[in-house]
Amino acid sequence: MAEIPKYLDDFIFEELGGFYQPGQNVDVNLRNDETANKRYIGTYFPRSLIECYFIFQDLYAHDKIKEAIDNKTELKILDIGTGTGGNIIGLMHFLKNIKFNKPVEFLTIEGNTNAIDFQIKFFKKFNQQFQTNFRLKYANITFQTNTLNSQLTELLNKMNSKYDFITSFKFISEFYNSDYLNASGLFKSFSQTLSNYLNDKGIFLLLDLVSGDYEHRNTRPFTTQIMSDELNSFIKNTTSQLAYILPICCGFWSDFCRTQQCYIERQFEIKHSRRQKDISKVTYRVMVKKPFAREILSNVQAKEQYQMSYNTWHPRYCRNTMVIEKTNETELPNAFKLI
Ligand SMILES: C[S@@+](CC[C@H](N)C(=O)[O-])C[C@H]1O[C@@H](n2cnc3c(N)ncnc32)[C@H](O)[C@@H]1O
Repeated sequence: MAEIPKYLDDFIFEELGGFYQPGQNVDVNLRNDETANKRYIGTYFPRSLIECYFIFQDLYAHDKIKEAIDNKTELKILDIGTGTGGNIIGLMHFLKNIKFNKPVEFLTIEGNTNAIDFQIKFFKKFNQQFQTNFRLKYANITFQTNTLNSQLTELLNKMNSKYDFITSFKFISEFYNSDYLNASGLFKSFSQTLSNYLNDKGIFLLLDLVSGDYEHRNTRPFTTQIMSDELNSFIKNTTSQLAYILPICCGFWSDFCRTQQCYIERQFEIKHSRRQKDISKVTYRVMVKKPFAREILSNVQAKEQYQMSYNTWHPRYCRNTMVIEKTNETELPNAFKLI
C-alpha cells in the first residue's frame, strides 16, 4: 500500500478543494470544468502519481537503467496528456528519491486550460517543498483524432530536442472513448511518432486504463487488449526502432508472439486521507531503442513464465507467448519487474 505524501494530501484536499468521488463520467476529461478537475485531483491524481513513482522505481532497480539515468548530465522529459499533473509529480518524487540533482526540464502537452492551471500549481508546490528547480514548459494544444500525429510532429520538430523519458498516461484511451471508430490505430501511430524523439538510452512509458467496455455489453474490446494488438504490430514491424522491456514476457518473446487481444493488468493500492485503500487497474508497456533493450534484457535471467495480469477474476500468465488462466495460488514471477 502506498500513501501519498502528507504535504500533497493537504494541498489537494485542504488548499485546492479536491474531493474523492470515483464512478461515472470519467472516460473523457478534455472538457472538464473546474469542479470536474477538483474531482480529478482528489480521485485520480493520486493514482497516477503512485503508478508513475513505482514504475520508475522498478525500472531503476535494474543496473543498466540506473547507470543510464545516473550518467545523465541533465534530463529532458516529455509528457503528453498531462492533465492536472499526477504522473509527472510522481516522476518528480522518483527523481527526488534517487537524489537526481542535475537540471530537469519537462515539456507537457495538454488541451484543458483549467487542468494546466492545476498542473502549474502542483509543479510550483513541489519545487517549493523540496527546494528543487525543475523546469516546466507546457503546451496548450487540443488534438483532433485524425491529426494527432501531425500536430505532435509539428510541435516536437519545433522544439528540436530528444527526450530521456517520454510518458503518456491515460491519454490515448480518451480518443477511443470519444471517437472510437476514428481512433483505431492510434496507440500504434502515436508510438511510432514518439519513437523519433526518444534518446538512445531513453525510456518510453505508455500507460492506460484497462477498461473500455463501460457498459459491459462487450461492444468493444478492453483498452488493454486494443493496446496490446496495436503495440505488438508496431514493435514487430522491422522499421520500428523500439523494443519492449516491460512487461518482461513481451520483452523476451514478442518476436514470436501471436496472441491476439492480450489482457495485461497491474494493480496499485493507494492510500490518502479520503480513502484507506484505493485500487487502480492499469496496463502499460515500457519501450526503449532496440540496442538498449538488448543490453537491459541480456542482464535478466528469463523465467519459464510470468504473471502479466493481476485481474482479480481472471489472473493470467504468459508462458513463452502462450497465455494461460492462472488457476492455482502459486506465486509466479511478476512480469512488471526487471529483476
Ligand atoms: C485521464 S486524463 C490523464 C491525465 C494525467 N496523465 C494523469 O494520469 O493524471 C487525460 C488527459 O488527456 C487530455 N486530453 C484528452 N484528449 C485530448 C485532446 N484531444 N487534446 C489534448 N488533450 C487531451 C485531457 O484533457 C486529460 O487531461
